Amino acid sequence: MNLGIDLGTSRIVIYEPGAGVVLDEPSVIAVDSRTGDMIAFGNEAREMLGRTPDSIRAEYPVKKGVIAEFELAEKLLRHCLHRVCSNRITKPCVAVSIAEKVTEVEQRSFIEAVVSAGARRVTLVPETVAAAIGAGMDVSLPLGQMIVNAGGGTVDVSVLSLKGEAVSSSVRVAGVAMDEAIVRYIRSKHGLHISLPTAERLKIAAGCALPRVPEVTVQAKGRDALTGLPRVQPVTSDELCEAICEPLQATVDMLRQVLEVTPPELSGDIMENGIWLTGGLAQLANLPLLLQHATGIPCHVAENPAQCVAIGAGKALQYASSFSAVYDLGSFSYRLSDNVTN
Ligand SMILES: Nc1ncnc2c1ncn2[C@@H]1O[C@H](COP(=O)(O)OP(=O)(O)OP(=O)(O)O)[C@@H](O)[C@H]1O
Ligand SMILES: [Mg+2]
Repeated sequence: MNLGIDLGTSRIVIYEPGAGVVLDEPSVIAVDSRTGDMIAFGNEAREMLGRTPDSIRAEYPVKKGVIAEFELAEKLLRHCLHRVCSNRITKPCVAVSIAEKVTEVEQRSFIEAVVSAGARRVTLVPETVAAAIGAGMDVSLPLGQMIVNAGGGTVDVSVLSLKGEAVSSSVRVAGVAMDEAIVRYIRSKHGLHISLPTAERLKIAAGCALPRVPEVTVQAKGRDALTGLPRVQPVTSDELCEAICEPLQATVDMLRQVLEVTPPELSGDIMENGIWLTGGLAQLANLPLLLQHATGIPCHVAENPAQCVAIGAGKALQYASSFSAVYDLGSFSYRLSDNVTN
């Protein structure tokens, strides 16, 4: 049994070749603070965030694309693997996506977490390579293809050609940083304290990279900074756009830097084929438009952007074992290719 796993900052997605996406949940786990036993995971655990008594701890174990809470990450993975392969006898072979610019120690923690959660074999696949395969791109072509995977913790960008990353970069300023920026903005502009999950809901409902037409208004529920009482504040999409412009600028700057150092032949290909966006944040309204304005290159959002990485990781594994001539993972020019454990 092969599985592609995208254990992200915001969501965990598992893809099984032939069966499709078999699990897609927020990467949140709630445990008993004393015993460490799991109480809930996914949507159920996310509902507990900010609402737990002292006896329960609810956390996102992955932060900014790397494992911040090893034990919780391992428990979450174990539970998810159990969910998707409880009726199988053999342990699964797993391909795990991993953000760019992750240190060797951080890579190892992913391998160890997946192995101790019950996998037989682990292969690490760079997130942008997985995203490109999941988006249906043929990464084996001698053609420059630019992919931007924007998630909760990181935005990764790569120019891929001939199964390798010709140029790549990453910033650890993504969806969660935008939620934090919204919390700060609403506190300073409206004197209202809101939680991170509320900020995320506002971002998804009305956030935008460039002003929306027509403007949308959403209601922010929180605690008044002066009176300490609960209050509801109308917030417009233009305000949310202003709130997240700084974290967005990090992506724009990175994209420009990558394009600046991309060899001219590949630049020409990118100009022709456009930039492809994947990741949950690719669904932010007007993000393709903003990146298009900033680079002068057409931007497209891949189909099913939030699941591309897991799908691509699962497919990469399949190709690696049976069609190694077509998708020979061993010859990917990424520095993670040695990280295969048996
Ligand atoms: N419709 C939407 N509009 C704006 N943002 C969205 C939308 N849907 C999801 N997001 C944001 O996308 C982010 C999650 O994306 P994704 O699931 O790709 O992240 P991840 O893979 O868990 O994180 P990472 O790869 O950075 O570790 C979250 O910040 C979420 O708020
Ligand atoms: Mg991701």
